[in-house]
Amino acid sequence: MTDNVIAFDSWMRDGFVELNNDLERLYWAQEDKANVDEVGDDVKKTLVAEGNQLISSLLQEGNTDEGFDAAFDVLGNVGLFMAACRRHEITEPSREHVSPLTEASALAMQIGASIGVTPRFATAHLTTHNKAVAGKYKRFTDLDAERIFVDYNTKGILAYKRAADALLKIKSIGISHPIAADLLRVAHRALQDVHESNSILFSKLDTDGFFYQVRPYYKPHRVGQNIYRGANAGDFAGINVIDLLLGLCLANEPSYSQLLVDKFLYMMPEDQQILRDCMRMTSFMDEFIALSESCRHQSWFQEHLSLFIDVCRMHGQTAQQHHNQLVEKYIAKPANDMVENHLDKVTASGPPLPVLLGALEKLRDRRCAAQRNDIYTRYEDMQMLEAMLG
Ligand code: HEM
Repeated sequence: MTDNVIAFDSWMRDGFVELNNDLERLYWAQEDKANVDEVGDDVKKTLVAEGNQLISSLLQEGNTDEGFDAAFDVLGNVGLFMAACRRHEITEPSREHVSPLTEASALAMQIGASIGVTPRFATAHLTTHNKAVAGKYKRFTDLDAERIFVDYNTKGILAYKRAADALLKIKSIGISHPIAADLLRVAHRALQDVHESNSILFSKLDTDGFFYQVRPYYKPHRVGQNIYRGANAGDFAGINVIDLLLGLCLANEPSYSQLLVDKFLYMMPEDQQILRDCMRMTSFMDEFIALSESCRHQSWFQEHLSLFIDVCRMHGQTAQQHHNQLVEKYIAKPANDMVENHLDKVTASGPPLPVLLGALEKLRDRRCAAQRNDIYTRYEDMQMLEAMLG
């Protein structure tokens, strides 16, 4: 690491967090907690000046090529800085045609393009690839709500990844292999872990704390000329690997493949590769259906099908929990209560809230293989497979 990289990283872990804490305290003290206009202007100036100075030195230093991890980490730091400027409305994409953070944009675009990821901070920067120093990892603030949110995002993502890894391993040995049963059990356990971790998040996370002090850091913002959507906990391949391998979602269905296409650059390059591979694989659901004529009375088929259905149901339960509990409690309900003039700024991806909620609901119902007549789900196939169990 160069001295400039170390200086920037130290500031991100220290001064940057303090400045955000100060601003959050000022916003929170107002009657309209969502207002950031003409509040803490001196603190905002200091944030921009300190961040720009450190970034300027990095930009002048040029690409020192210290490997992917180092580059990804610097990108995360520039991205956190730009996201904080957006949160405090130092930048605002509808007000500008190009980001006023010229040097930060240049550095983010140089790094993002060179390592094959989006030129802004992504979820991995705050969760799975966020190195702790003396027990403390990088965050925007020191607030409890943010710590709880990031902790349980990290736990949930890692558990989804465990489930995805187990399912992928079955691909190499085949669904009829005796050890496939063990791997299905591992996947089921991992999805239960997601469920348990999300339940704790649901009970611990303060609604207003999340809505007013955490979520605003995840808004879309410009880098250079283009607007990039905010990060969300779904920006990793595992969740889609599970969807596709189980067969609950289909890569050739336009709305689902659109979602995949849109998220590729928000994932780590290794995740992008895994997801590309999965998009070409047959699902276990289709394999069970294809084998059902010849194998349905064999003991392996009965055992593995039963375990497979349990995994599908557990995946459906985590999706229900995400939508009916987390999204409802922390986004939909507080947005309903929000002062009208801030409503356009609620989601991480940018579409109006009802559109986003409708899209998330469809995802939930595909994962639950629910009966719907407006979108394709695997409801009938799941019913047929369940009926085959002796
Ligand atoms: C996406 C809300 C926690 C997994 C989303 C979106 C919202 C949301 C609103 C759509 C993103 C957008 O604005 O474009 C929340 C809230 C949470 C939470 C309010 C907690 C307070 C989690 C956790 C996980 C998770 C812990 C587990 C890893 C996902 C996934 C997506 C997503 C996978 C992408 C869409 C999908 O494939 O379902 N979330 N989320 N979320 N979130 Fe969460």
